[in-house]
Amino acid sequence: MKILVATTNPGKLREIERILSPLGYEVVEPPEKMEVEETGSTFLENAYLKARAYHDRFGLPALADDSGLVVEVLGGYPGVFSSRFYSLEFGGREELRGSTDEANVRKLLRLLEGRENREAKFVAFVVLYFQDRGLFASGECRGEIVDSPRGSGGFGYDPVFKPEGYDRTMAELEPEEKDRISHRGRALRKLADLLGRCNL
Ligand code: IMP
Repeated sequence: MKILVATTNPGKLREIERILSPLGYEVVEPPEKMEVEETGSTFLENAYLKARAYHDRFGLPALADDSGLVVEVLGGYPGVFSSRFYSLEFGGREELRGSTDEANVRKLLRLLEGRENREAKFVAFVVLYFQDRGLFASGECRGEIVDSPRGSGGFGYDPVFKPEGYDRTMAELEPEEKDRISHRGRALRKLADLLGRCNL
């Protein structure tokens, strides 16, 4: 089955290809960039909006991922605002020096300075939109936020997220190691399993 990946985020794109290709799916990148406004208040709503918009525009089964970091002591923030956390009034805007990922991480570390509870989880909702309906699955990865960034793999908050049971951050894991335990890996394998059972 040919699946169009409804994202402009190169980190996500790489991971989705890496996870779905070995499961027998032909993963296709969008022929051109398309920004979809994420007006939903949940990961599921936003994933649905993106998958449907790409399907309607390009006419292929479209897969969207909406994901983020949920931090307990921040009341669930950055959550659905993970990609633009630095620019929110909540917690004070962070100046954009370098990449948006770096600014997001600086703000997160500032807000957690001196806090004992550093529990967090990554959450992903994936939606495959085709034949006028959306099929969805979700995945989580629990862990904690470390004091300073470590490692060069992955993207986003990976350098400050240490998965449960590991002494390395997500950015210090091999790509395949991340895929085995990541929120995205878990969600995509569940979705592939569902698809298999739908007999499509
Ligand atoms: P979205 O494009 O609105 O789903 O934004 C997702 C944002 O959540 C990304 O830009 C990252 O900041 C963060 N995020 C999601 N998944 C990961 C991950 O696997 N590692 C690190 N950060 C992630």
